[in-house]
Amino acid sequence: MKKHKIALIPGDGIGPEVVAEGVKVLKAIEQADENLSFEFTEFPWGCEYYLENGKMMDEDGLEQLKDFDVIYLGAVGYPGVPDHISLWDLLLKIRKGFDQYVNLRPVTLLNPSLTPLKNKTEKDIDFLVIRENSEGEYAGAGDWLFKGKPEEVALQTGVFSRKGTERIIRYAFEEARKRKKTLTSISKANALNYSMVFWDEVFEEVSKEYPDVGTYSYLVDAASMFFVMQPERFEIVVTSNLFGDILTDIGAAITGGMGLATGANINPDREFPSMFEPVHGSAPDISGKGLANPIAAIWSIAQMMDFFGEEEWGKQIVTTIKKLIDEGEQLTPDLGGKASTEELGSHFTNLLIEGL
Ligand code: NAI
Ligand code: MG
Repeated sequence: MKKHKIALIPGDGIGPEVVAEGVKVLKAIEQADENLSFEFTEFPWGCEYYLENGKMMDEDGLEQLKDFDVIYLGAVGYPGVPDHISLWDLLLKIRKGFDQYVNLRPVTLLNPSLTPLKNKTEKDIDFLVIRENSEGEYAGAGDWLFKGKPEEVALQTGVFSRKGTERIIRYAFEEARKRKKTLTSISKANALNYSMVFWDEVFEEVSKEYPDVGTYSYLVDAASMFFVMQPERFEIVVTSNLFGDILTDIGAAITGGMGLATGANINPDREFPSMFEPVHGSAPDISGKGLANPIAAIWSIAQMMDFFGEEEWGKQIVTTIKKLIDEGEQLTPDLGGKASTEELGSHFTNLLIEGL
């Protein structure tokens, strides 16, 4: 029997609503699979916690989390707390503190009706974006000089270390080799004449160790166009923190929107817990109304199962999401349906178990 310790951080807005549906799926898996069991511990951290306690999480929060196998997070952020506080004091603190330097974001179309792109089907849109998750433009390096004066200057430095750049590119090559796929690097060396020239050089260098992997290299502006015009070009993509953030929103848009997009923050060395979360935020505009689509959060469970080495479950979850969308009867309003968050979640769990 394999037992996995899961830390739950439901967070704010629709976070708790979608996490509840993900937990339902985990409990169904636990029931159906006698070799698996999960132990849940919930943490009340987020913006509400901040308004009461003046902090997004406890000072020793990382210490409290470090012995879990994984963290399952909903979303953080709410009107009344500045977004850079909720992001930096919780999400980025965990990603950085636990060296989750790989962000895996699948861009997979499950049904042609979900894409706004003309004449594109499941065959055309099926790739994985591997986003650098620890440095780059999100390193927090910079300054704000002469604040409030006419001569004020804001500096935000992109940090690209040899170690950080090489390890993400190497990780991507390993994935491409394992899956027998091509690898596309996305950068911007024409304008960013230090960081991205360096990135391209490292990509070139590491590629020599993987002669079996076919490679492409695009500028981020051209790549954004190809995401929309010719998504079939991509199989595995590796890119920097900021570019990855932006590109994967395009990825979400061409595969059904924020209600479906998932992302895993991985510490490949498994020295610290990895974190699984939907890509979307706390959506204050729809929270508390049962309107949130829980599929992104459920898809995160598929990524979690892959991480646990339970790939059969991972596959089964994605297949069931596809089945649920093909059926089209129990969908939330963002996908044109009338079901509530909870109804979709319960229906999903039934389909998952029926499909075994
Ligand atoms: P958002 O992703 O929360 O919402 C964008 C739009 O998509 C909204 O119209 C929302 O209703 C819709 N949407 C999002 N998730 C949905 C779902 N599951 N089902 C149906 N519709 C969905 O992004 P926004 O509005 O920019 O940010 C809101 C708050 O969330 C901010 O405080 C922001 O900082 C935070 N945020 C947190 C993230 C995280 O915790 N990982 C990621 C992105 C934003
Ligand atoms: Mg984002």
